[in-house]
Amino acid sequence: MDLFSLAKEQAKKEIEKLRAEIKYHDELYYQKNAPEISDYEYDQLLERLKKLEEAYPEFVTPDSPTQRIGGKAEGFEPFQHTVPMLSLDNSYDLEDLYAFDERCRRLADGRKYEYVTELKIDGLSVSLHYENGVLSVGATRGDGYTGDNVTQNVKTIRTIPLVLKDFPPEVEVRGEVFLSRSQFEKINAELEIRGEKKFANPRNCAAGTLRQLDSSIVAARRLDMFPYDVLRGNKKLFSTHWEIFPWLEKNGFNVNPNRRLCNNIDEVIDFINEMLEKRHLLDYDIDGVVVKINQTALQEEFGATTKAPRWAIAYKYPAVQATTKLEDIIVQVGRTGTLTPVAILEPVHIAGTVVSRASLHNEDEIKRLGVKIGDWVLVEKSGEIIPQIVQVIESKRTGEEREFIFPTKCPVCGADAVRPEGEAIRRCVNPDCPAKIKARILYFAMRKAMDIEGLGEVLVEQLVDKGLVKDVADIYYLKFDDLTNLERMGKISASNLLQQIENSKNRGMERLLVGLDIRHVGEKYAKILTNQFRSIDRLAEATKEELDTIPEIGEAVAESVYQWFRNPRNQEIIKKLKMAGVKMSASEEQNIIDKNFAHKTFVLTGKLERFTRDEASTEIERRGGRVASSVSKKTDYLIVGVDAGSKLAKAKALGIKILSEEDFLKMLSGHVDSNS
Ligand code: IVH
Repeated sequence: MDLFSLAKEQAKKEIEKLRAEIKYHDELYYQKNAPEISDYEYDQLLERLKKLEEAYPEFVTPDSPTQRIGGKAEGFEPFQHTVPMLSLDNSYDLEDLYAFDERCRRLADGRKYEYVTELKIDGLSVSLHYENGVLSVGATRGDGYTGDNVTQNVKTIRTIPLVLKDFPPEVEVRGEVFLSRSQFEKINAELEIRGEKKFANPRNCAAGTLRQLDSSIVAARRLDMFPYDVLRGNKKLFSTHWEIFPWLEKNGFNVNPNRRLCNNIDEVIDFINEMLEKRHLLDYDIDGVVVKINQTALQEEFGATTKAPRWAIAYKYPAVQATTKLEDIIVQVGRTGTLTPVAILEPVHIAGTVVSRASLHNEDEIKRLGVKIGDWVLVEKSGEIIPQIVQVIESKRTGEEREFIFPTKCPVCGADAVRPEGEAIRRCVNPDCPAKIKARILYFAMRKAMDIEGLGEVLVEQLVDKGLVKDVADIYYLKFDDLTNLERMGKISASNLLQQIENSKNRGMERLLVGLDIRHVGEKYAKILTNQFRSIDRLAEATKEELDTIPEIGEAVAESVYQWFRNPRNQEIIKKLKMAGVKMSASEEQNIIDKNFAHKTFVLTGKLERFTRDEASTEIERRGGRVASSVSKKTDYLIVGVDAGSKLAKAKALGIKILSEEDFLKMLSGHVDSNS
């Protein structure tokens, strides 16, 4: 064997070994809930496999774990469901269940049948299409008829097989994508450290994740899925529902073990009661039990209304509440200085978690509830991860309770906390309030802004308290010794952090603008302002009139941006950032301003062949143009695809230039001077 074949042979062996190893760790993680390696080590295995497969593409298989690594998408294509994804009728008490049973018996007219009970998983439904055993499409439910094609994201879910073992030529698997509670807690903890907005509950987090455009983020979140239906075209695959489970298991799906084949409604009710007790021990949220007729023939005969099938019903568990004592009310101070009251509770078990805090929202909410310190309160957790206080139990009052007086001074710095007329929120007025500074720095460092990994809550706390950092620019002047003198900061961590800080200097104007946290300027306006001005210096000089003439920028945004750059403190921050070498202009990839596009307004109509709407918009915006949704006198060009709508007629009437997709392509490649 020559050297090359030898290397190839070895690579093949290693590839097989890595795949087996990854499979083993997937099982430990998802099925046994007992991982043996860290996420990082797991990623290293995957990374090594990817490298080998890149070197030897002949060994890539459709079910290799590397096929789960996707890229970034611009948007999602709509996906038309072959069979509508219906909803379920709900029942809230036993009476409803008996009525359902009655109806089924009447419709079955003497024929024998069973019920299957399953958990109603609190996630979001997806449809998976397999062609010749290979996963071809994964789509969200959407409105039941059309969902989003999220195949790239679905592929990152490791309990969804990419290839089936035993399959008819075409098969559709439906199920519920969800996030485990433990994984959800981890994600929120990380978001908190980064100063990003946390998700309210695992379901919101799963839904937001599935709609992520960057599938590497989806992969890291570790979604999961429990399948609940198998279709072949518009027919069921088996003659009974119960048969789907062994088939799903054999094909590598994560089948929920909590299910039962019931001979009558009483057995159904037993299952419901058992699960009511057991649900708190599960590592995922459920909101009830689904009861289904087992016999496919009867399902077909019973049919469905436009909304829900007549052969199934969802039994919903009541929201979970508990009473406990409110021990104290503390007031937290946020990034903008907002004072938020939080109830400190005597710890109480609700739905499997220990609750020791509840949100009180604001001053008025405390008044509305009439709650006092020492009160017994009714706390509710209805899927919401932040429990709410529902009411005060006045009958339990002893007279010892104390009125809570909302502070008019900031509890962190002692400055005045002011509540403007007509607003519900009280804010600390001190621009140097340490609470504000800390929150602002965490915001500056978060992923969508300057993305400084390692600059988390504990660290920021110390940096601000020690006076090392007073504003976001100070981060760039931190020295190695400053860091190693901090608690729990070793030399390696310190130099890693300095490297991260250094790297962040090149994020470019758009992300810097997000990080500066100018009121009203989030990702969307940061992009528009960057496209328009190309550098912070130009933006800082912009007059209010100039800002006002940008169509997408409203008065409030223009005013806020204008004022921000007039503030001497902010001018100082910009100066310091600049001196530290932080990049103040649009990043290279955006910097392809084209005179044919700059300051021109485009409208799109009809379907383009080579671009999705998002792709076309991105190309226009990258060149300095803008995209509007409707035709007006301000429109410069209408780009017309197939099946153009009324926009075309309107554009013609207004004498606006019309571009075919061909014209647009030429313009993009700079072949045509559009002014000619
Ligand atoms: S069966 C025709 N089984 O509940 C509808 N649905 O409220 C068939 N869900 O959209 C659905 N767990 O997203 C079924 N074991 C389960 C389920 C389940 C959760 C969701 C599903 C559906 C919604 C209806």
